Amino acid sequence: MTRDFDPAGDGAQMDFDGRMSYGDYLRLDRILDAQAVRTTAHDEMLFIIQHQTSELWMKLAIHELSAARAAIARDDLAPAMKMLARVSRIFEQLNNAWDVLRTMTPADYTHFRRELGQSSGFQSWQYRMIEYVLGNRNHAMLKPHEHRPEVLAKLAAELATPSLYDEVLRLAQRRGVVMPEAVLTRDVRETHRFDDAVVEAWAGVYRAPEAHWQLYELAEKLVDFEDYFRRWRFNHVTTVERVIGFKRGTGGTGGVSYLKRMLEVELFPELWRVRTSL
Ligand code: HEM
Repeated sequence: MTRDFDPAGDGAQMDFDGRMSYGDYLRLDRILDAQAVRTTAHDEMLFIIQHQTSELWMKLAIHELSAARAAIARDDLAPAMKMLARVSRIFEQLNNAWDVLRTMTPADYTHFRRELGQSSGFQSWQYRMIEYVLGNRNHAMLKPHEHRPEVLAKLAAELATPSLYDEVLRLAQRRGVVMPEAVLTRDVRETHRFDDAVVEAWAGVYRAPEAHWQLYELAEKLVDFEDYFRRWRFNHVTTVERVIGFKRGTGGTGGVSYLKRMLEVELFPELWRVRTSL
């Protein structure tokens, strides 16, 4: 009879008395202790973990988007491209995750939905932060965070910072692609509004990509990311319709009607419009 393999013989560290282990480094006790189910419903665990993992990925997305924006502001495009590519992959991961949640039927959800009270992803401050970093800056969305001054301060600080798209337009200007003065000096606290002159400026880049290769590549990275983000919103609303139909959301909105309206949000509108004029 062969004996079970003992990795200790291969040099594996097996004794962690006083040494930092895997669980210590990752603070797994805290993470794995954070699934406080409120019912005995089997699917509540899935629902909680799906949201928590999404929030972790959102944390990384904010980390990457903020660093990409800073890199663009200092004309350091190579790392920015890498970080933006990673954010798209994060959203691809989030998109695939809906398949797991879709295994929850409407009946499964009714077993614990009442326990959520009025809580809803609508109150996800990290989701709002992502929208704010990208330039979708609806101030009305600050209100649900007024009871958390530290969160409100983070969101307010973000509103005072130029968005990712603002930094991209400023970069384009620095590289000789003339952007409208009003766009470059706009009040960055507000959402960027579609501007025909910006479409024209991008058209110059898209008609001669070889002359503006880095800008062209960067613009396409943004389009790629928005494509994944749109799919996330679409997957969300489809899952919601599948699970709750046209019931109102726990957060109080019309539910599917609200989420369908959010499908119309355009983060980088001129980059979508420029395609028509090519
Ligand atoms: C069965 C699963 C889900 C249902 C039924 C559901 C339902 C809803 C509804 C109805 C809304 C609109 C606001 C409201 O009135 O509540 C909403 C918003 C939202 N949900 Fe979900 N959701 C689900 C899963 C998720 C997951 C897994 C996430 C990941 C974090 C998420 C994140 C969000 C976010 C960020 C919003 C705000 C969207 C915006 O304002 O544009 N939801 N959800």
